Formats: sequence, structure tokens, C-alpha cells
Amino acid sequence: MDAMGEPQPILDPLTPSAIFLVATIDSGGESAVRDLLADISGLRRSIGFRVPGEGLTCVTSIGSAAWDRLFAGPKPAELHEFPGYNGPIHSAPATPGDLFFHIRGETQGPCFELAMVIGARLRGAATIVDETVGFRYFEQRDLLGFVDGTENPEGPGAAAAALIGDEDPEFTGGSYVVVQKYTHPLDQWNALSIEEQERVIGRTKLADYELPDDVKPADSHVAVNTITDADGTERQIVRANMPFGTIGTGEFGTYYVAYAATPSVTERMLERMFLGTEEAAYDRILDFSFAVTGTLFFTPTVDFLDDLPDAPDTAGAEIEPATLTEIVPVERANAAAAARSDGSLAIGTMKRSN
Ligand code: HEM
Repeated sequence: MDAMGEPQPILDPLTPSAIFLVATIDSGGESAVRDLLADISGLRRSIGFRVPGEGLTCVTSIGSAAWDRLFAGPKPAELHEFPGYNGPIHSAPATPGDLFFHIRGETQGPCFELAMVIGARLRGAATIVDETVGFRYFEQRDLLGFVDGTENPEGPGAAAAALIGDEDPEFTGGSYVVVQKYTHPLDQWNALSIEEQERVIGRTKLADYELPDDVKPADSHVAVNTITDADGTERQIVRANMPFGTIGTGEFGTYYVAYAATPSVTERMLERMFLGTEEAAYDRILDFSFAVTGTLFFTPTVDFLDDLPDAPDTAGAEIEPATLTEIVPVERANAAAAARSDGSLAIGTMKRSN
């Protein structure tokens, strides 16, 4: 395997608090966004170091179209727009998003402070299109009342499921993350008996045991999402779902977050959930979970963010490569000379007029 850059803290365990920010980059906002990406590790440290024990982390991810606007050079092999799914009964929309900030901590205070700083740095450069505050409910349960996250892979299995290995050497240690916001019609859900709910999920409610195969329906959430390769190897993802809600508006939901070494695994699960499997028309959980957003992002390594590739060279795009080699050194020499003589920003060949 190629030397792995330091992955962002995507494998950290679930925390009691989280804030999810999805933003789109405004026209002309690319350079301010690049500055923020380069500073994000330091900003997190400035806040996190002052509150030891709060476990403040931020995982920053970038969408496909944004990648082309922000960076020259190679692109993660499987980075594309979230396809969206239109099933016979239920649909998963694809919704806009260029940047995803997954902020986690023990309490809301530090998460909120970091979100504020990110928001301030994005003002005028990007628009926050979704902001969701996630919280820990009892015993890591979702608002359907079931323990959520139990069968996540652990240890080396988690790293193998979530982190790119040597299949895309430029991006080893990176990951692909799908986010979807789901809302639950809790009145309808709570009208089911506990036994009926258990058959929707595929696990027992109180003690969280998987139902035996002869009892677990083929359209239960667990059955639909247990997938294997042709050789029988189970394919896994690392989920970091959190409940969210507002009492006044009656919106109760699950913010679904899944990191994977290849988006194809998550997408296969989504196809099975929304378009069905050989044995199930669709995942029964969808009768009680409505997808309202959906976006795919790439999560680069810490090293990538700390040392960003160049911006795409849109200005020089029409210059012939032959002349480029002549011009560039002269420009650089001028800029360096200007910087030495007057301490200016030395942007290109701009000269002082006096
Ligand atoms: C398992 C809830 C969406 C993939 C589970 C479990 C619960 C749950 C309660 C059982 C315990 C566990 O192993 O975590 C939810 C809720 C969702 C949601 C409330 C949204 C409303 C999704 C989506 C995917 C997914 C969109 C995939 C695209 C999985 C997988 C498992 C799982 C892979 C583990 C299956 C196994 O190996 O046993 N989910 N889930 N979930 N879910 Fe979800």
C-alpha cells in the first residue's frame, strides 16, 4: 500500500453532539473556500485545545463539481454527483452540496463555536443550504427507538471499509461520504406494535439482538442492507447517523452519514432499499423514513487539506504549452522582485504606478 496520509477522524466513535453543515460555493467564492480548507485543521485546534475532554472534531468533505472548481490535478477516481433513486413507492432525491462539515463533540458548545467560525469564513463565498443539529438519544437509539450503529465494523475492519487503500494511490486514506436527511412520521410508527416494528428493522427493540433468519423478513432494513460480493465477502460501510428534530414543527428525523472506501457499496445498499431486491419490493423502513436530501462528497486526508493542490488555472487555459514555459519563469521572477523591493502581494506582473 502507498504511504497513507493521515485520515480525517472519520472512524471516531459516535459522540453525544454533532452539527452537520452542507454548503454550496457561490460564484467567485472558490478562493475564500480554499483558504478555509487550508485553515480548517488549525481552527479546530484553536477551539478544541481550550476545551480538553470535549473531543471536538471536524471532518471536511468536498463534492464532485466543487472539486473541479477548487483544484487542478487528479480527482478521486469515484467522485461523482449523487445519482438519486426513484423507486416504485419511495424516492431519494439528489440535492445540492459542495462542502460538508461533520462537526462532533461531547457537548454542543464547542461544536457550535466551530460552526460559527466556519460560517463566518464562508460568508460571501458560500451559502449554507442545510444545517442540522444532531444529538444522542437514549442508548444510541434513533427516534424510531431502535439502537442504531451496532453492526458497524470495528478496528481494522472499519478502516478497510471506510478508507481508500492502494486502489487509488493519490487518495489513499481518503473516503467517500453519503449524507441523507430522513424524516419520520412518528405517529404512524408508534401506531405499530413493537413486534411489527422489530420486523421492519430486523432486530429486537429493547435488547437489540438480530432476529433469526427464519423470522427476519426479506424487506426488513437489516436484511436489505446485508450485502455480499460474488465470493461471499460481506461489504460494509461506517455509519455515523444522529437523531435530530424540532418539537414545534413536528419534524423528527435521522441524519444519515455513511463513509466508505468506495461509494459503490453505499449506492448498492440504496438501490436495494429504494428499487428493491430479488425478495423485497423495497426496504420497509422507508414507509416510516422519508429522504429529503442526498449528496455524495469526498473526504480527503488531513495532509491534503494542509497542503492543497493548486487552483485550476482558468486564466492561463488558452496559452499554448510552448509559450507557457517561456512566460511563467519571467512572471515568477517579476513577482519575486516586486515582493522583495516593496513588500507588495506580488500578484502576477502588476507594477506600482508611482
Ligand atoms: C442497520 C437505522 C438508513 C445501512 C441499521 C439498524 C438500524 C438502522 C436501527 C440496526 C442496528 C445497526 O446495525 O446499526 C437506520 C435509520 C435510517 C437508516 C433510522 C434512516 C432513516 C440507512 C441507509 C443505509 C443503511 C440509507 C444504506 C445506504 C445500514 C446497514 C446496517 C444498518 C449496512 C447494518 C446491517 C447489518 O449488517 O446488520 N440501520 N438506517 N441504513 N443500516 Fe440503517
